[in-house]
Amino acid sequence: MILIIISLITFINCDCIPYGIRLSLGHYYSALNDINNYMTLTFNSQNICLDYVVQIITVSSIHNIQVNNYQLLNMTDIYKDSENMIHYETYIYDVKFGQFDGLIEGKQYTFVIFWENTIISGPFYFSVPSKSLNYSSKFIVMGDLDSNWNLNTSKQTFDWFKNQITQTTFYDGIIYLGDMAYDLEDDNCIVGDNFLRNISLFTSHFPFMLTFGNHDSGKNDEFVYIRKSFATPRISEYDNQIKYNDFYSFQVGHAYYVQFHPYKIAYGNKDETYFNYTLFQMEQELRRIRLYENTSWLIVYNHYPFYCSNPDDGFCKDHYKKMKQFEDIFIKYHVDLCLAGHQHTYERDEPLAYNKIAQFDKYENNTYTNPKAPIYIVEGAAGNDEIMPDNIYPPKFYTKFQAAGDGIGILEIKNETHLYFEHRMSINDSIVDYLWIVKTKIVPDDDDDKVKDSIPIWVWILIGVGVLLIIALVIYCVLQNKKSKQTHDEFI
Ligand SMILES: *[C@@H]1O[C@H](CO)[C@@H](O)[C@H](O)[C@H]1NC(C)=O
Ligand SMILES: *[C@@H]1O[C@H](CO)[C@@H](O)[C@H](O)[C@H]1NC(C)=O
Ligand SMILES: *[C@@H]1O[C@H](CO)[C@@H](O)[C@H](O)[C@H]1NC(C)=O
Ligand SMILES: *[C@@H]1O[C@H](CO)[C@@H](O)[C@H](O)[C@H]1NC(C)=O
Ligand SMILES: *[C@@H]1O[C@H](CO)[C@@H](O)[C@H](O)[C@H]1NC(C)=O
Ligand SMILES: *[C@@H]1O[C@H](CO)[C@@H](O)[C@H](O)[C@H]1NC(C)=O
Ligand SMILES: *[C@@H]1O[C@H](CO)[C@@H](O)[C@H](O)[C@H]1NC(C)=O
Ligand SMILES: *[C@@H]1O[C@H](CO)[C@@H](O)[C@H](O)[C@H]1NC(C)=O
Ligand SMILES: *[C@@H]1O[C@H](CO)[C@@H](O)[C@H](O)[C@H]1NC(C)=O
Repeated sequence: MILIIISLITFINCDCIPYGIRLSLGHYYSALNDINNYMTLTFNSQNICLDYVVQIITVSSIHNIQVNNYQLLNMTDIYKDSENMIHYETYIYDVKFGQFDGLIEGKQYTFVIFWENTIISGPFYFSVPSKSLNYSSKFIVMGDLDSNWNLNTSKQTFDWFKNQITQTTFYDGIIYLGDMAYDLEDDNCIVGDNFLRNISLFTSHFPFMLTFGNHDSGKNDEFVYIRKSFATPRISEYDNQIKYNDFYSFQVGHAYYVQFHPYKIAYGNKDETYFNYTLFQMEQELRRIRLYENTSWLIVYNHYPFYCSNPDDGFCKDHYKKMKQFEDIFIKYHVDLCLAGHQHTYERDEPLAYNKIAQFDKYENNTYTNPKAPIYIVEGAAGNDEIMPDNIYPPKFYTKFQAAGDGIGILEIKNETHLYFEHRMSINDSIVDYLWIVKTKIVPDDDDDKVKDSIPIWVWILIGVGVLLIIALVIYCVLQNKKSKQTHDEFI
């Protein structure tokens, strides 16, 4: 009897062990500016387990937050009438914390998860990024990662994270450029479930800011598992239950980040309503940022690169054509950097406008000064079993640097004028490429054009008259010179 009770308790206990512990930046960083949602913490359990408490520990205080929000993700139900039957259920919990819980932006904390008064997970250190414009931020940038361990491709990246965490390195977050697990809903969602358990290693420390890739779509192409499993600082007006997480933006320090999800556009643009809506959202948001926010840097990310060098992938041939209307507004609103994954390598390109190298004042020592169009970077090399190219691709005219093999990017916004990016190899943490973008004029706006426009007409008339006078003078001098030369010749 006692044995049965003990095993029953163990069984329940096991069902209540939280897994897939993941932070994401909350609505404080979006336009909602909610001071009580610096962070959203999400985790799963196999059963409904109420009684979770998240404890946040600061140097001088301890704050307990009861976890009240949960939802059942019933994939069995979602696929019940389809040919792709799945059997999978999980419970997803989320909890928000912020100023109300004693957190201060720019500071560092630790959290643990209690269940029935026992520590069941943690401790995990994390930092709360600051929106203050004088805050220097540091994000990890990566994409296309699995955790299948079959070919050891992703393992190097997981080991890299292990080292970072052992050294207690702080990052403001991870910009995840799409495609995960390969694929999330495979094998009755066990692949996805394992992936969540595995990435917990780093998502429990660094807020995970994702975009969706083609491998994340699920069998019904509706991205159900990924939509439900991850929190983002989406603005509710952008979303309904179907388009959940397709578009969001957030600010940290001097940068604004905008994420979008052009899956349907990338694969055929059959849905014009969706195209129009996504474009409308993007334009509205970029305009708002440039008009009302004081941030210098504007960074856009999605899974599908507009520009890349893989000759075997149609995306690298003409994706920019499909995305032309997006490129129009990226250029119009002075987007500085476009990040994408999809190619399983690292690639850094020139500043580009419509498949041509755009203007910049100077390029020296990996430093662009005042580029006039976005610089494009592909970071899809975090490691996956699908394919990891051994070599780089033949460079295109705009390819500045490529690296093959497992790697991740680090993006640092130093201040209003200096942005730094580097690519590191997972295996030995060596920096193989870096880039600076420097602005000597904040928001590289159309200053030059404005100056031209604002010169009054009488100045132009005056300049015209002046030029005419000079020409007349030159002609006069030449004629005089000829005359004197002739006179001179006559004397010989
Ligand atoms: C999940 O959905 C299936 C199919 O609709 C249903 O049989 C099952 O009871 C559901 N699970 C829960 C916990 O509601
Ligand atoms: C940054 O600005 C905030 C106010 O926005 C100020 O409180 C803080 O002291 C500043 N930090 C530094 C390092 O200048
Ligand atoms: C990570 O995933 C692998 C398989 O994909 C699985 O065997 C392993 O148990 C997972 N790790 C954790 C900590 O759950
Ligand atoms: C993966 O790594 C392990 C040890 O780290 C090794 O035993 C195994 O052969 C490797 N597998 C492949 C496919 O390289
Ligand atoms: C999408 O936008 C274009 C251009 O503004 C317009 O011609 C078209 O009718 C729109 N399509 C839909 C389905 O709204
Ligand atoms: C931008 O700066 C102006 C002038 O300092 C200030 O009034 C405004 O509130 C700032 N906007 C934001 C979104 O911080
Ligand atoms: C670029 O690097 C070279 C060699 O390290 C150095 O001499 C030069 O001053 C650098 N230029 C700038 C603008 O930093
Ligand atoms: C901005 O950061 C760069 C690189 O760290 C530094 O050289 C420069 O002095 C900084 N500018 C200001 C105004 O702090
Ligand atoms: C780090 O690893 C890369 C990729 O294997 C290699 O090219 C590079 O030489 C290594 N660097 C160091 C410092 O070991």
